[in-house]
Amino acid sequence: MTRFLIITGFFLLTISSVNATETTTLNTAEQQALESQLVAHYRDTVKKFGGTLLKELQSSLQQDGAISTIAVCNEKAPQIAKILAEENNLSLKRISLKNRNAHNGVLTDSQEATVLQSFVERQAKGEDLSKVEQLTKIEKDGQTYYQFMKAIPTGAVCLTCHGEKVDAVLYDKIKAYYPDDKAIGFKEGELRGAFLITQPVSQVIELYKQGKLPAVTP
Ligand code: HEC
Repeated sequence: MTRFLIITGFFLLTISSVNATETTTLNTAEQQALESQLVAHYRDTVKKFGGTLLKELQSSLQQDGAISTIAVCNEKAPQIAKILAEENNLSLKRISLKNRNAHNGVLTDSQEATVLQSFVERQAKGEDLSKVEQLTKIEKDGQTYYQFMKAIPTGAVCLTCHGEKVDAVLYDKIKAYYPDDKAIGFKEGELRGAFLITQPVSQVIELYKQGKLPAVTP
């Protein structure tokens, strides 16, 4: 009996170690299920980021005016992104081809720039920009990541600080914060930028297998 238990125990150990080395492989059906759950979770995360920021932006514009609101964008945007990133164990930011904050820029011809450009083309072909998004896998420093990008359209309320006719006094203040600002001259409805999420694929698969990937009902 004892010998039987020892043998069974050894056998189970062998199985679990085989499983551990196979964490990065999923069959096609599992892969599809994971990715549709992942897209829902990422959409939800950027919606929280955009929604919280927009609320802060609108109430500050109403109460304190555009000049004071520059500070809100400057402080709140990175703060909200940081909280959501930590909560969800991922990297989250906003990027743009014509950026205001130097940290939000993309290199010409980089993979991110190509995706942003493809969003502009998708809109030109008739897609609704507010629904344009892309989930893909990228390689970075020898590691594979899931990358999710979602278009940010320019709304009417954004034109005060990103439009074609930004008030001169306001723009002086913006320039004081961001001497290399490129984020003006936008028209309503144009692509302003995108939300960008990256997360290692191995980590996503682990969370999925443990049932810990947030399930979002659309
Ligand atoms: C009160 C002025 C103001 C208004 C109004 C405003 N923004 Fe901005 N925006 C800023 C500032 C300041 C930054 C830089 C924030 C930072 O330092 O991260 C910024 C940055 C951004 C970025 C990040 C990329 C970059 O250029 O650095 C995006 C995307 C963006 N804004 C979109 C919008 C959208 C969409 C709206 C309308 C819903 C909007 N903004 C309204 C001032 C404004």
